[in-house]
Amino acid sequence: MISRVLTYSDKINLPPNVLKLFGSNIIMSDLKSNKVSKLYEDIKRAKISLQGKKYDILRKNAVEDSEQFWEQQAKNLVWFKYWDRTLTWDPPFAKWFAGGSLNASVNCIDRHMDSQFKNKAAIIWQGENEETRTITYYQLFKHVNIFANALKSLGVKKGDRVIIYLPMVPEVVIAMLACARIGATHIVVFSGFSAKALADRANDSESKVIITADGGYRRGKIIELKKIVDESTLSIPSLEKVIVLKRASNDIKMTNMDVWWHEIVQNEQQYCKPEILASTHPLFILYTSGTTGKPKGVLHSTGGYLTHLYATTKLVFDFRSTDIFFCTADVGWITGHSYVVYGPLMHGITEIMYEGTPDYPTTDRYWAVVEKHGATILYTTPTALRMYIKFGDNTPKSFDLSSLRLLGTVGEPINPDVWQWYFETIGKGNCPIVDTWWQTETGGIMLSTCTGIDDTIPMKPGSASFPVPGVDMAIVDEHGEVVDANKKGYLMVKKPWPGMLMTLWRNDNAYQDLYWNKFKGMYYTGDYALMDEDGYFWLLGRSDDVLKVAGHRLSSMELESTFVSHKAVAEAAVTGRLDQKKGESIIAFLVLRSDYPPTEELRKVLTDHVRKTIGPIAVPEGIYFVSKLPKTRSGKIMRRLLKSIANREDSIGDLTTLEDNTSVDEVKHVFNQLKNEIVE
Ligand code: WT7
Repeated sequence: MISRVLTYSDKINLPPNVLKLFGSNIIMSDLKSNKVSKLYEDIKRAKISLQGKKYDILRKNAVEDSEQFWEQQAKNLVWFKYWDRTLTWDPPFAKWFAGGSLNASVNCIDRHMDSQFKNKAAIIWQGENEETRTITYYQLFKHVNIFANALKSLGVKKGDRVIIYLPMVPEVVIAMLACARIGATHIVVFSGFSAKALADRANDSESKVIITADGGYRRGKIIELKKIVDESTLSIPSLEKVIVLKRASNDIKMTNMDVWWHEIVQNEQQYCKPEILASTHPLFILYTSGTTGKPKGVLHSTGGYLTHLYATTKLVFDFRSTDIFFCTADVGWITGHSYVVYGPLMHGITEIMYEGTPDYPTTDRYWAVVEKHGATILYTTPTALRMYIKFGDNTPKSFDLSSLRLLGTVGEPINPDVWQWYFETIGKGNCPIVDTWWQTETGGIMLSTCTGIDDTIPMKPGSASFPVPGVDMAIVDEHGEVVDANKKGYLMVKKPWPGMLMTLWRNDNAYQDLYWNKFKGMYYTGDYALMDEDGYFWLLGRSDDVLKVAGHRLSSMELESTFVSHKAVAEAAVTGRLDQKKGESIIAFLVLRSDYPPTEELRKVLTDHVRKTIGPIAVPEGIYFVSKLPKTRSGKIMRRLLKSIANREDSIGDLTTLEDNTSVDEVKHVFNQLKNEIVE
């Protein structure tokens, strides 16, 4: 039984901002097509099915007594000792399951050693080339135990921080679980980040060890990870050891600090007793971009985080023991932590881990992987789907995708036409789509339809539907008042939830300030959203200065300070341009120092500077040299104006909420002046 589809015609009732986001042209043209009449009947039936109400009742009860709901969920984990209190809430600091103790690696591997999952494949790893590896739960258990002992022999103790800078190979999972086993807090750094980004994270977290590889493969080329680590280690005083996995066999230099992975595991014991850890023990830090110039260290707990994941994987994906789950995220991001590592492994699911990019060496990789390994659930991003649409339908159609039963999307809003393509071309109209909204900070999924409760819940293409049971969310206006249906506002979380970050690493003030001070007692997500008359949530992009490029989070401020750190740049402002493929692309407005002429050559130098400082994901799409930045009277950059220019809009549009009483005429004047100055 598949979920009923509500189609575009429903969205015609939505306010202009939704239409604008998705492009009214798409909606209007589709409305005229016969698709609509075909699906109109479905809409009517969907509305009837909503009256089933099972789901609504569950959600209502779970939110009214959310502590009881989460307590029930927590009982699905393996605990050494149950908690004394479900939630200790000292706003904005939450302790979930205080007094309880557990270990994350026990929950992912030991728990399966006495079950029928023991010799089942945990990870089917697919290399960028034809190479594959299958690791059973038992083998994973062995690897983790041995590597945990090796870490201990190197002096890593409970509470220490360990950086993991590895490509997408099974060892990244082994390293994470081994850290968890001995109570070390892991910090996975995406292997596309630069030496400086790596050093910044290692220094901020005062990490003792870096786990890396000689090299990793990306698009047929070797990324020389060890070389990047060598560049960064010069400036990490806390560092004691670098563990190097042999992966690409490229030439590297081993120093006194370096040890080979395969050598340190050679004589270790097969079993490592797991540390008994408090529920609030920090499992990991993951750095993410925010509105400040520096990445923030989002700190996650053990008991609360795992409870959220155990529950959401079941509720949203309806995990069954026969599932083969293919989440395409890299472990360097939160999706990889939660839905490649902890969520699926706790359930004893077989998962596919894919090393490469969607389009190398051929433009069919995800479909080839689904067919080859018989994936039943595919969880991917709108960016990847948009890329595949561009390659045409013949490619996916030439594969047998009939093993799929459920599709998922995450990371950015999905355009309804992309949704429809996913539903029809990939799912053949047989697979529900779960559009899951969440964040690095939320730990796990917050908004999504839950096929694990009711797989007849009507889906609306482009909407992330409802809060998952036990999660309470609202959309509020500037004063923190809940807005009416179909009105845009700030997306907030009203009650603590178990997957929530505990704080920002060593920065309680910033944690309080950035997330909890906008409206007292509520968590500020940084997203705009609206709720329609059926209670469905529609995400309308970020309300802060965070960019979403190919689903990855980048901070305008961080990019600006990177530009300004170059000697040629006096001032910088960065904004996003809507991008057909990546969702958003980076556009920089730069004022140069007087002795630097605005040349094409300099543009290249500055692009390279960004690549080296942050990484390839931060490379700007456009750099505009301007004589000055548009500012309000109190000196604030007029970002909305820049955004309009970056998006090649003819006029600046709505001027009603301009700060600082800058006159409308003045803004219009600046807008026209700046537009004329820009050469593309
Ligand atoms: C931001 C969080 C969620 C894990 C990967 C990204 C945007 C995320 C959706 C969605 C619309 C979405 C939001 C959010 N976002 N999922 N289904 N629909 N927008 O995690 O890097 O922490 O980014 O991604 O803007 O705040 P992240």
